[in-house]
Amino acid sequence: MDRTLVILKPNAVQRELVGELISKFERRGMKITAMKMSRIDRNTAEEHYREHVGKEFYEDLISFITSGPSVLMILESMDAVNIVRATVGATNPADAAPGSIRGDYATSPGHNMIHASDTIESATREIELFFRPEEIQEYRLAVRPWL
Ligand code: RTP
Ligand code: MG
Repeated sequence: MDRTLVILKPNAVQRELVGELISKFERRGMKITAMKMSRIDRNTAEEHYREHVGKEFYEDLISFITSGPSVLMILESMDAVNIVRATVGATNPADAAPGSIRGDYATSPGHNMIHASDTIESATREIELFFRPEEIQEYRLAVRPWL
């Protein structure tokens, strides 16, 4: 099983779409192994988005992700990184397929509702950045015992 990190960004909370978005992952068959609401601080946001330092959208990105509470989750499944990225859709909502989260809920690249780790390596790094080991649950789903 792989793990990936999802962040429902501050506009998902403001638009009261948190439950609806979590449901999409549950229905897809992902196992939730950690979840919390947190206002990401500037240092953590800078570390999380360090690959984007210096890009023209960087300041807007950091100020948006720190603008209010987000909901952070660890999701598990086989091939979790790729499955969740497909459910999330392309970075620019204009390119995101209808049915994907960005394709159904977003119009602006800067306010695209949700973050998902893009590789297993970034998932490992991001999970360590946002969660302590004791915040992560190990359990089996009775309905899907292979998970
Ligand atoms: P994320 O990291 O948030 O899951 O998004 P992503 O992998 O699909 O896209 P990435 O290239 O990592 O970009 C991170 C976030 O920066 C904002 N962005 N704005 N205005 C733009 O052209 C632009 N490009 C990227 C987006 O909010 C994107 O989610
Ligand atoms: Mg990214």
